[in-house]
Amino acid sequence: MENEKYVMIPGPTPVVEPIQNAMGRKTAAFKDPEFVADFESVLADLKKLWKTDGEVFVVPGSGTLAMEMSVSNTLKSGDKVLIISHGYFGDRFVEIAERKNYDYKVLSAEWGTGIAPEKIREELSRDNYRGVIATHVDTSTGVKAPIEEIGRIVQNESDAVFIVDGVCATAAEKEYVDPMNIDILFTGSQKAFGVPPGLALIWAGPRAMKRRNKLGEINEYYGDFEKWLPIMHDPSNYFGTPAVNLIWALKASLSLIKKEGLESRFSRHERDARAIQAALETMGFEILAEKGWRAHTLSNVLYPEGINDEEFRDTLREEGAVVAGGLGDYAGKLFRLGHMGNIDEHVITSVLQAIERTLYRCGKDVDFGAGMKTYMQEKYS
Ligand SMILES: Cc1ncc(COP(=O)(O)O)c(C=O)c1O
Repeated sequence: MENEKYVMIPGPTPVVEPIQNAMGRKTAAFKDPEFVADFESVLADLKKLWKTDGEVFVVPGSGTLAMEMSVSNTLKSGDKVLIISHGYFGDRFVEIAERKNYDYKVLSAEWGTGIAPEKIREELSRDNYRGVIATHVDTSTGVKAPIEEIGRIVQNESDAVFIVDGVCATAAEKEYVDPMNIDILFTGSQKAFGVPPGLALIWAGPRAMKRRNKLGEINEYYGDFEKWLPIMHDPSNYFGTPAVNLIWALKASLSLIKKEGLESRFSRHERDARAIQAALETMGFEILAEKGWRAHTLSNVLYPEGINDEEFRDTLREEGAVVAGGLGDYAGKLFRLGHMGNIDEHVITSVLQAIERTLYRCGKDVDFGAGMKTYMQEKYS
């Protein structure tokens, strides 16, 4: 009999039943008063939960659209920009900065570690930066940046806007917009919100909106905050057709988040991550991210000697868990296990057991149950 396959890549994440049901509803007209009220409530919840007096944008598109919108609406050609990169997605901002003709500098960390806040402070004291960009969790490395500390430094040392890529973090790692001096935070629906892919979510604090205003007309059309603002203030207005069913799915996700409580959700992710990472180490794997830099949303898991990546992931798929391969220099050397969003104890324990069975089928000497024991001990004792 075939095993059910859990999608454990770092996004899209498993979509639970209430969210699936919201997606599956008969699509309404986007001016339907009930849909307009639902969209309004989504926007109000996003602003309130992530604490900003600024604006929030929910736009059809993926996380990369949000990356582009975050810079296009706050920076202009020639601006000095500091990019803090600890992986593939930080480097994607370098490509964007090239295209946009920013005068940029990159602080790059070796994969598995991050940039010390002190280095950021030093760099900011040297030059007059207009923007600082950091990836909260880089999905290629599983490294998490100390966003709150960087936010304080940016605030104290510069006039830069602080842009945070929360694609692999928001709704799982601790983030609040105004209280953490974040000017722009963005994510995609498919990660820790547990909604299918297709929505870009962007919070723009008061300073970011002031910057947008000062820029006048920008080159972007679809990605212009000013085009979307009338819709975000009154969703019965039209600019681009809203993704009706995805917005319902996001509403269902927000109901789950409110029921759980955002702070409890942050600590659940932290507890799960610690226990999962310890269990994987017991099984003989290593975690790429150094201790102190590890994310709560995913683990980038280095294979022990003698494991073939393709065979391992194909076998694990048969055993019931779909994981992602490594990126860049780590392709073939590790697998990436997402553990964010709406995954419960059943899913986590099944996946850990599937990993043990896979190791055994790949020829490793396995102490069955040892990983699970570590998981339970880390979590409950
Ligand atoms: C940290 C980070 N930033 C940006 C992106 C790009 O998002 P998308 O693939 O939705 O365009 C991803 C995608 O995985 C990501 O993990």
